[in-house]
Amino acid sequence: AVREKKKIIDHERIASYAFAFDIDGVLVRGPETIPQAPEALRMLNGENKYNIKVPYIFITNGGGRSEKARCKDLSKRLGITVTEDQVIQGHTPMKDLVPVYKNVLVVGGVLDSCRKVAEGYGFKNVYIPLDIMKWNPSVTPYYQLSEEEKRIARDVDFSKVNIDAILVFADSRNWAADQQIILELLLSENGVMGTICPTADKGPGLYFAHSDFVWATDYGLNRYGMGALQVSIAALYQEHTGKELEVTRFGKPQRGTFRFAEKVLSNWRRETLSEHVEQLKLEDCPDGAGKLESERNDSPLVSDSSDEEEEMPNDPFGEKGITLERGSKMILELPPASTVYFVGDTPESDIRFANSHDSSWYSILVKTGVYQDGATPRYKPKQICDNVLEAVKFAIEREH
Ligand code: G3P
Ligand code: MG
Repeated sequence: AVREKKKIIDHERIASYAFAFDIDGVLVRGPETIPQAPEALRMLNGENKYNIKVPYIFITNGGGRSEKARCKDLSKRLGITVTEDQVIQGHTPMKDLVPVYKNVLVVGGVLDSCRKVAEGYGFKNVYIPLDIMKWNPSVTPYYQLSEEEKRIARDVDFSKVNIDAILVFADSRNWAADQQIILELLLSENGVMGTICPTADKGPGLYFAHSDFVWATDYGLNRYGMGALQVSIAALYQEHTGKELEVTRFGKPQRGTFRFAEKVLSNWRRETLSEHVEQLKLEDCPDGAGKLESERNDSPLVSDSSDEEEEMPNDPFGEKGITLERGSKMILELPPASTVYFVGDTPESDIRFANSHDSSWYSILVKTGVYQDGATPRYKPKQICDNVLEAVKFAIEREH
């Protein structure tokens, strides 16, 4: 007879808890990799005394390259395999704006790197400040485009284009030029360069991938980030108009990013579990490759959920348990992670993010980035650790 639902009872090797990591200041600092980071991630991949595998994702406010490129870089630096399903960058949730805007100005990043990312997301007409500077070099009187920039910039007549939205994807490499252009568009008639709207209420929408005021690089002191550019633009806008600048913010600590992260984490946990189930099937059924675990009566993996629930009061997957459809890899009814340990270095974005949206998230602040030992963090973490490895060890011990 076909059993309709089977419950995984082997919970020795996949944790019910999970991790989420900030990147800059936790795993890397500019071009340097934090020395303890590779070992921390190996521990989560199963190299720990409990032989348990712990699912994890990455939530960075950084960006400026595709999620694929980011994964490749992280994999190389950390010596593990990171896939696109595990990574959220500041601008990742901006994908949701694709159906909303036709013409967008994308700001930040190296040369046209962010244009490529935005086009990869599906945005139709993606312009960058270099296109505008090529169209009319007098827009930025003190900046001359290099030959490379001229080659990359597209030929567009901006007196005939309505910019519908300005999306600041990554840190600006040219604050003066980018501010000049952003301000002009905000004060324009319907996003057309060279125009002025006297009431200053017909400009494009302004979106920032995050609002980090400072961030940690390989320099000793923190450097200004995208949030500082935002403060600067808001001050200039206020000076011009007497009005407060309206901005839509993504990234940490925003709630929208949190919801997005929860979805990504839940998909990733499902993925990890189904992989685990597949692996065990092969290990446990050497003579029956392709035979479904749910077809075995003596299965160490599955049993009638009704029987097992009584015997497993500490089932880490919660009351409902995890169920498999017979003949399918898909895992259903996966309850949320029991605890999500979020390791970050910036109290204002990371700790605030982990503390504000769901009480099952557990914030850990490390001392390898923006936060400096001895300071009083503006948002109080549940735990402070020296570095990411200490954070991982702390959490695993807390769980076992
Ligand atoms: O520009 C990147 C920076 O502001 C923060 O990155 O990984 O610390 O969220 P992260
Ligand atoms: Mg950070």
